[in-house]
Amino acid sequence: MIRPFRYEVMRYGEYSKAGEFVYDHPFQWGSKRTGPDLARIGGKYGDSWHINHMLEPSSMVPGTIMPSYPSLFEKSIDKGSTNSKIHAMRKMGVPYPDGYENIANSDLDKQAKQISEKLEKENKIKISSDKEILALVAYLQRLGKDITLQDKK
Ligand code: HEM
Repeated sequence: MIRPFRYEVMRYGEYSKAGEFVYDHPFQWGSKRTGPDLARIGGKYGDSWHINHMLEPSSMVPGTIMPSYPSLFEKSIDKGSTNSKIHAMRKMGVPYPDGYENIANSDLDKQAKQISEKLEKENKIKISSDKEILALVAYLQRLGKDITLQDKK
């Protein structure tokens, strides 16, 4: 998260507000930082950038210490636990509408298919729509998008 210190705001932009993390259960604010702040990474790069970066970070950022995550390209998204995850999140206060657990996986499939088709069409990158990497890309592209900041830089 971006903290309300002048040097962090100058470097990363407006500091994080509690409302931006309203769907994080539990809150995971911390203070140790190794890589850069990802709180507002959504929309900064295209999907293909993230794909290449997670497969081989140094292909996008020469000399980086970030490790690669090849397993995300091999493993399939675990959809068997979606229903119980939604129940658990709802218990902790996330306002999922009644019955959402029954359609969540079809939403997931739709979104994954959209990302995978766009990657193939625009970047000639072929990734089957059941792979974990697509869920990570969807998540990263959402970060920082839940509220619009008035003075966003
Ligand atoms: C699933 C885990 C991770 C994800 C999703 C992730 C994602 C990202 C993204 C999206 C960026 C680009 C940020 C930007 O340009 O604004 C980045 C950069 C970076 N990440 Fe990661 N990262 C992960 C794990 C790690 C780990 C474990 C390390 C260190 C051990 C690390 C170190 C870095 C560093 C140092 C950069 C800045 C580029 C550079 O100067 O090397 N990351 N990461």
